Amino acid sequence: MLNLQFAADYIRHRFSSKTRHGVHSPFVYKLVDEIIYDFHAKEIYHSVEQAREGLLKDERVITITDLGAGSQLNTNRQKQVKTLAKNALKPARLAQLIYRLAHYFNPATAIELGTCLGITTAYLAKAIPKGNVISVEGCPQTAAVAAENLENLGIKNADLRVGNFDTLLPEIINSEEVLDFVFIDGNHRKEATLDYFKACLPKLSANGIMIFDDIYWSRGMKEAWQEIKDHPRVTLSIDLFWIGLVFVRPGQVKEHFKIRF
Ligand SMILES: C[S@@+](CC[C@H](N)C(=O)[O-])C[C@H]1O[C@@H](n2cnc3c(N)ncnc32)[C@H](O)[C@@H]1O
Repeated sequence: MLNLQFAADYIRHRFSSKTRHGVHSPFVYKLVDEIIYDFHAKEIYHSVEQAREGLLKDERVITITDLGAGSQLNTNRQKQVKTLAKNALKPARLAQLIYRLAHYFNPATAIELGTCLGITTAYLAKAIPKGNVISVEGCPQTAAVAAENLENLGIKNADLRVGNFDTLLPEIINSEEVLDFVFIDGNHRKEATLDYFKACLPKLSANGIMIFDDIYWSRGMKEAWQEIKDHPRVTLSIDLFWIGLVFVRPGQVKEHFKIRF
């Protein structure tokens, strides 16, 4: 992921983005001020970060079934869990932002595409103790470690489904009345990302949020992000560089924000 174009995009984002002070929309100001910029350490983060520490030392070797765009750092099919933990998991700062967003929007169901070892799944589950997380992972051996991890954390409200997003997402969408929280964190290809977006959109609720990871990861992902923002139903987007937030709130003049994170 670390290439010159990515670094240039990052620098451009730093210069063109705002903090909470440049934001006039009350909804976005509150979201940035109270949730996105809430960097206080929370007790609830502790156990998940301890689980991450365990994964970063886990020397077991697993066989990776890669159904997505794949890692640009290590494409060996056999990987140590610790290598996967180091390269594929959201860093704490971002995983904790996902926690705060889920806690704030408090959906009955949060859908995650891309469980990997279950770190963000655990954060989501802890964020909505009365809700349920449905998380999809295509690699059976990775999912097995995630399941172990969630069990060790005592998490009971996460439903881990093993299979391809392309097959399981339509089933999940059919089974839900509305979608309030969808986090797309896998298969970072332009067409796939747009397919997942379009599949979710008809059921995305007025108060719903979709989160896309790695919107600057490649030219294809940047194009996908642009198309998502341009979609007529999207009324608000927040580009945090590492992730992008999408809303279809009615009565909102279409606006796109770039926020420094
Ligand atoms: C970046 S990782 C997810 C990280 C995780 N959300 C976290 O930070 O804790 C992406 C995961 O998506 C899975 N994946 C990618 N494409 C997929 C597909 N088409 N179907 C199912 N799983 C897929 C990969 O196996 C990988 O484990």
